[in-house]
Amino acid sequence: MMQSLAGRVVLVTGATSGLGEKLATDLAAAGAGVLLHGRNPEKAKDRIEKIADTTGNPQLAYYNAEFSSLEDVRRMAEDIRADQERIDVLINNAGIGPGRRGDNRKLSHDGHELRFAVNYLAHFLLTHELMPLLRTSDNARIVNVASGAQQAIDFDDVMLEKGYDGRRAYSQSKLAQVMFTFDLAEELDGTGIAVNCLHPATLMPTTMVLETDFFNTTMDSVEKGAEAVLRLAASPETHGESGRYFEGKTPATADAQAYDKGARERLRMISRQLAGYADK
Ligand SMILES: NC(=O)c1ccc[n+]([C@@H]2O[C@H](COP(=O)([O-])OP(=O)(O)OC[C@H]3O[C@@H](n4cnc5c(N)ncnc54)[C@H](OP(=O)(O)O)[C@@H]3O)[C@@H](O)[C@H]2O)c1
Repeated sequence: MMQSLAGRVVLVTGATSGLGEKLATDLAAAGAGVLLHGRNPEKAKDRIEKIADTTGNPQLAYYNAEFSSLEDVRRMAEDIRADQERIDVLINNAGIGPGRRGDNRKLSHDGHELRFAVNYLAHFLLTHELMPLLRTSDNARIVNVASGAQQAIDFDDVMLEKGYDGRRAYSQSKLAQVMFTFDLAEELDGTGIAVNCLHPATLMPTTMVLETDFFNTTMDSVEKGAEAVLRLAASPETHGESGRYFEGKTPATADAQAYDKGARERLRMISRQLAGYADK
């Protein structure tokens, strides 16, 4: 699998910590050109130097964006389009965890519920804005790093104004990623671009897990999660797969709402509206 990554151009969002940092390191070690997204240039500089030192791969580029701002996501996509001829693999990984019990609801820069905005909507916009570069690749792949934590979206209260709970916010944003994956796979059918999503591994010891008090334990390694993501990003084993949800390396069934075409259409309409595509 790692051989097939040499020379591929891969963008990883949230590449400065946890799973994303591990993915960027493994991709660089496999000889891919890695585009690392982060939101903190100093932290990113440190991570990139470390990855270049350990892998000897100088083909690393950094792109900065705060994902709670759609304008910033759009600007980053413009920067990438200006610099790069193609993207072979897009790994939508950045995310905010459930937080701590009793946390207040937070809003994004644009006034949207924060986890919906960062975990889902920013990636919805980024993926669409990078589509011209993905279309330039042969057999491009998109991997949405979702989660087994999924909760149906209440379309009367998408922004969770009533009865806010961090775990619910996280879980609805992760289900939105799954619904987006299924929807986009239908849209991209016949284009050669594959899109899949997964629960990478359970309770990996990353910042979002270590800082939450919803679970006071860790379970799987970050290595295990990275292996499952890279399998969807590059393995010949998953060639031709699209529109599927996996738990680790195993095909799995997502929350029932993900299979409801009407619900997916509602989410798509809302997302297009919020992302500024409604009239196009
Ligand atoms: N850990 C698990 O057990 C687990 C299980 C299932 C799914 N996942 C999924 O795996 C993915 C990676 O999470 P992780 O476990 O590696 O957690 P993590 O270590 O907390 O990493 C989250 C990443 O997202 C970035 N990020 C957070 N808020 C952002 C914002 N507003 N704008 C831009 N970037 C932002 C972080 O940037 P900084 O480096 O600047 O903080 C970091 O790179 C997430 O999508 C998560 O839902 C994780």
